[in-house]
Amino acid sequence: MISALRALTRDLQQRMHERRCHERAQIGDQFRLELPGRIENESGDPSRIQIGHSCHLGGTLRTSPLGSLRIGSYCWISDGAQLAAATSIVIGDYVGIARGVYIVDNNNHPIEPDARREHRRRVAPGGAGYPSIGSAWDLSDRSPIVIEDNVWIGMFAYIGKGVRIGEGAVVARQAVVTKDVEPYTVVAGNPAVIVKRLPLDTPTIPSPPGEQHPAERL
Ligand SMILES: CC(C)(COP(=O)(O)OP(=O)(O)OC[C@H]1O[C@@H](n2cnc3c(N)ncnc32)[C@H](O)[C@@H]1OP(=O)(O)O)[C@@H](O)C(=O)NCCC(=O)NCCS
Repeated sequence: MISALRALTRDLQQRMHERRCHERAQIGDQFRLELPGRIENESGDPSRIQIGHSCHLGGTLRTSPLGSLRIGSYCWISDGAQLAAATSIVIGDYVGIARGVYIVDNNNHPIEPDARREHRRRVAPGGAGYPSIGSAWDLSDRSPIVIEDNVWIGMFAYIGKGVRIGEGAVVARQAVVTKDVEPYTVVAGNPAVIVKRLPLDTPTIPSPPGEQHPAERL
């Protein structure tokens, strides 16, 4: 009886959180939320966060009042992953983002000491942004991130501002990516460098009916 009640409560919580995601973002069919995954859209405009179909979200998606986040289809974002867009993060199809990965298109805090003080005032209790970040986002340097189709990002990797990760690339666990990553390479380390080159994509597994393989779209 108690376990049935617990299951019911979990199910209700799941549905409530999924509904909240649909209010805060434009999401395709077959979306699945894994708690404590969530969407924080500081713009209040759901079109600023777009997610394709057949995606799983276990982490947190966050946008500033002027930021945008676009995620393709068949993407898996594991628990503890954080994607924060002060300007723009674009993610292709078939992208796997493992547990604890951070993808952040901004420095989070300004570099200049005086601006850092102002940032602290805005995010402090009683500040204009509190308990969120609000206008303090504007004080940090930022630059868009693009992650192309079929990229796999290993556990606890960090992807910094202004980076493009090419199609089919793999980012090793705990890598710190500060520069563009060439397509079909494996990068590792801090800062991440190429440790392997992968064969080019030659599709052999049929795509679902009605869908073109990404490599055939070129
Ligand atoms: C990226 C990865 C798949 C590469 O695996 P692989 O192709 O078997 O690569 P190898 O183990 O042969 O490593 C190749 C080289 O990169 C180095 N390397 C691999 N992973 C590394 C890492 N995380 N940091 C630093 N160097 C790393 C190896 O030491 C090796 O160096 P060498 O050529 O000088 O000997 C694997 O290292 C990895 O990070 N997997 C992620 C697992 C994960 O996060 N799973 C979460 C669930 S999605």
